[in-house]
Amino acid sequence: MDKFLIDGGRSLSGTVHTQSAKNSVLPLLAASVLTEKQVTVEEVPPIADALCMMQILRELGAKAEFCGGNVVIDSSDACSHELSSALTKELRSSVFMLGSLLTRFRRAVIAYPGGCDIGLRPIDLHLSALKRLGVKIEEREGFIFCKCDTLRGAEIALDFPSVGATENILLAAVKAEGKTLVHGAAKEPEIVDLQRFLNAMGAKVRGAGTDDIEIEGVKSLGGVCFRPIKDRIEAGTYLMACAICGGEIEVTGVSPENIRLLLHKLRENGCKIHAKNDKIRIYSSGRLKCNRRIETMPFPGFPTDLQAQATALNSGAEGGAVIAENLFETRYKYVPELRRMGADIEVKGRLAFVRGVKRLHGASLTAGDLRGGAALVLAALGAEGTSEVFDLSHIDRGYADLQGKLTALGARIKRIRV
Ligand code: UD1
Repeated sequence: MDKFLIDGGRSLSGTVHTQSAKNSVLPLLAASVLTEKQVTVEEVPPIADALCMMQILRELGAKAEFCGGNVVIDSSDACSHELSSALTKELRSSVFMLGSLLTRFRRAVIAYPGGCDIGLRPIDLHLSALKRLGVKIEEREGFIFCKCDTLRGAEIALDFPSVGATENILLAAVKAEGKTLVHGAAKEPEIVDLQRFLNAMGAKVRGAGTDDIEIEGVKSLGGVCFRPIKDRIEAGTYLMACAICGGEIEVTGVSPENIRLLLHKLRENGCKIHAKNDKIRIYSSGRLKCNRRIETMPFPGFPTDLQAQATALNSGAEGGAVIAENLFETRYKYVPELRRMGADIEVKGRLAFVRGVKRLHGASLTAGDLRGGAALVLAALGAEGTSEVFDLSHIDRGYADLQGKLTALGARIKRIRV
């Protein structure tokens, strides 16, 4: 068990290179078992969620190893379609294995998936979509048993643009008989990345990034070597760190288009932003104005995965902000921790009312989930005095070397074994 020891109040400067997107890498690793040929996913960050997904692949009988910074998967010997509950409970993305395993084996058994405790996170949309493709599903004793004789293309309308359900449909329909149409699909850049990956394997998918996706089933898929897009949430976290601490940094690798709304909000805070190609430069005086309102929405709206960091930022800014969380029910668990630092935040249902205080002060804090944990780190970087952040396992799920990257930008943050 490690903790961060953070001395707040240092401004940031320098360049930070963004890691590959967690939310792209995870479905790509799941998709690797769609073929018996070798798959290479380049530049996979050594985050705990990716390591867990690799462990899941091994449990199926596949080989999944780091080779340099790339992950090479050979699933020619994969023979199991069952995942134990230990790993699936670790990771919400284990649910993607349903689509992949059904395509590969016509069978899949997984335990109910875990992941961050940020709300109910049902998988009803995944399951009803799979049923439309001809899958028979039984749920008993905490497990989901899926089987089918053939996967058949179908027209599927999603009641909500769920990222995971859209990805699962792609994975299950890619070799199905005939054509699948998805209406009301999620439009996140990571879905476009999955389409690029599948098409590079020989699939026929189009429309990702819009409401309607069309998948024409193909007979076979080949191997692929693929470089995923960069992590817009990680990039956003560093931009917000600089906004809070003051200074000037450049974040490279992410298309500004993929975090347009965040850049708009940071300008509202009083930061200067220059964005060109895949480089985003931010300048902040450290004295910020509150955003009047931030509403989390499916892409291209403000990402729920940056909501906690935005609340931390507004806590130490001038004025007041209303944050509306529209995706997950209990995504304010970090708020009591921010209050220990002197933040003035009231949560009412899905709304958080933030009254900015002059300066947060250091405190002893515990990360309760991935992005909430990142928000505590940001708040501590901007606070007066020293903070400790415990339970880093949550943060390790999505940020590779957070402390190294922040140190390189001039922050005072140490990782200590406790
Ligand atoms: C993905 C991201 C996560 C991000 C989220 C929303 C990955 C690995 N994770 O999670 O980081 O916060 O998108 O952008 O890509 N829902 C249902 N039934 C379902 C599925 C979802 O009701 O079957 C609801 C969820 O409870 C939630 C909303 O839909 O309220 C969004 O969930 P979804 O888009 O599916 O998120 P994930 O794929 O779990």
